[in-house]
Amino acid sequence: MKPFIKFLTIAIFATTFLTSCNQKQTKTEAATALAQPNLTDTKGYELMVSKCYICHFESPDPAKMDQMIAPPMLRVKEHYLPNYQNKEDFVKAITYIVNNPSEEKTLMPGAIKKFNLMPKLNYNQDELKLIAETIYEYDFGSAPKMKMAMMDDLQLNDGNPWTLKPETIEKADSILNSLYGFKSDNIKDYNQLGKDLFEQAKFIMLDKSYTGAKFDQIHNFFSGVEGDMHALIEEKSIENAKNTVDDLKLKFNNFYNFFTAE
Ligand code: HEC
Repeated sequence: MKPFIKFLTIAIFATTFLTSCNQKQTKTEAATALAQPNLTDTKGYELMVSKCYICHFESPDPAKMDQMIAPPMLRVKEHYLPNYQNKEDFVKAITYIVNNPSEEKTLMPGAIKKFNLMPKLNYNQDELKLIAETIYEYDFGSAPKMKMAMMDDLQLNDGNPWTLKPETIEKADSILNSLYGFKSDNIKDYNQLGKDLFEQAKFIMLDKSYTGAKFDQIHNFFSGVEGDMHALIEEKSIENAKNTVDDLKLKFNNFYNFFTAE
């Protein structure tokens, strides 16, 4: 009996020891994975720092909000990735807009309003491509949407809706029509709907005749629906896409509580 117990004890000890060793091993692997430099020592990253971070922060920094002169690169990627999910398209889109910044092609109308159009600078095209590839591959992490509860921030103009040009209201009507007229069970159609809605919303966002408090409220409204539009553009699940469309319908109905034709 005794030798058996001894064997058992050794067996148990050995198993425990081995298991804990295994766990240690996995932990070390995880630690190594986390400690990986995340592309920061690559040529592409270096170029991004020297050519783009002159104006762009890498990610939003609440302490430096007043020093921002361009949207953080993390936000740029958040806007471009849903629209250009494969690397080749993504790189093409980034290099195109950097070479030809324009209101027509922008995916960030809010940033243009806030910071003005990105200046057109001359870049070495090979370097620019490398930078665009880095933006695609680099993990910028995530930052909470600055104004998640945007709709709650919407304010009336001394108790009355803000008056907008008839063209603007027509655009909003047309967005609402697109939403209510939309019917499909194909996820691709939902993705396209997201793009179409964004294109229409852009016109309102970029309208130069709105300034001051009125513009801030327009901006508040559209920041609140922009996330939904991006989600729709990249959505893979038809169920989620339908929910997002319903959400957008509610939000656009609310538009008329805050804005009316002049
Ligand atoms: C001189 C300042 C400046 C530099 C340098 C700069 N940007 Fe920008 N960038 C801006 C501003 C301002 C905006 C926001 C306005 C806009 O979107 O045009 C912007 C926006 C963008 C956008 C979104 C464009 C859109 O409207 O959809 C991309 C993409 C971008 N930058 C990439 C880059 C890359 C890549 C580099 C480096 C090669 C770079 N930027 C360097 C100022 C700069």
